[in-house]
Amino acid sequence: MKVLFVKDYAEMSEKGYELIKEIIETKEEPVISMTTGGTPRGIFKLLVEDIHNGLDISHTTIMNLDEYIGPRDAAYTVRTFMYQNLYDLINVQPHNIFLIDGATEDIENEINRYKEILQLYARDIQILGLGTNGHIGANEPGTPFDSTMFLAEHTEATIQSTMKEYNIERNDTPTQMLTLGFTEILEAKKVVLLVSGKHKAKAVRDFLEGDITPACPASVLRNCENTIVIIDEEAASLLDKAKYL
Ligand code: F6R
Repeated sequence: MKVLFVKDYAEMSEKGYELIKEIIETKEEPVISMTTGGTPRGIFKLLVEDIHNGLDISHTTIMNLDEYIGPRDAAYTVRTFMYQNLYDLINVQPHNIFLIDGATEDIENEINRYKEILQLYARDIQILGLGTNGHIGANEPGTPFDSTMFLAEHTEATIQSTMKEYNIERNDTPTQMLTLGFTEILEAKKVVLLVSGKHKAKAVRDFLEGDITPACPASVLRNCENTIVIIDEEAASLLDKAKYL
């Protein structure tokens, strides 16, 4: 795992976006798997800007690593986020758009459908954000490191973060998510974890300086050669940085 320290959210977004752009520009059939939430908003802005300036994504497959259980058009769904932050803002669409269906009545069937897509479309890059409790995707603390795509229950910390991010009441906030497991996350050719902000500083310290344990889900990435972590100054503020220089 490689750790890259950057100044702030803007630089984190630029560095993260550069990795995605390089894949779009150099691969014949690029496959990009995104995350949603506050972390990647800056990346989506840069991507949309570049598409407006002529970047061609018509050969690209874009997918996501998770989806909340709830109505498809709810304010918080990954689907809504992806349309609001990308697909509705561009004229030429990607070659494929794959989304998990969180409104399905047949969870098992949906998991199998998406697993088949993952087999057919090997991901060049998987973008991740870090939960304040160390989660990645919806692999919450305690999830075994050999997890495969599953229906996850959110912890209270994650429910609170979702309420804040989407400005919604507790009763309207989803409590479950279909998510890739650690196994599928780590199968991507490159895994990029982006972290910004003071509210992530403790999670970053646990992740980088604590034990490698399911109690801190992101710690699974520490032994992975294909992983890059991009951390801004506020998120790194509790670290003994010298260790990584
Ligand atoms: C969302 C997801 C989550 C978020 C994490 C950080 O699709 O997979 O793991 O990446 O909760 O959320 P933000 O970026 O809102 O701080």
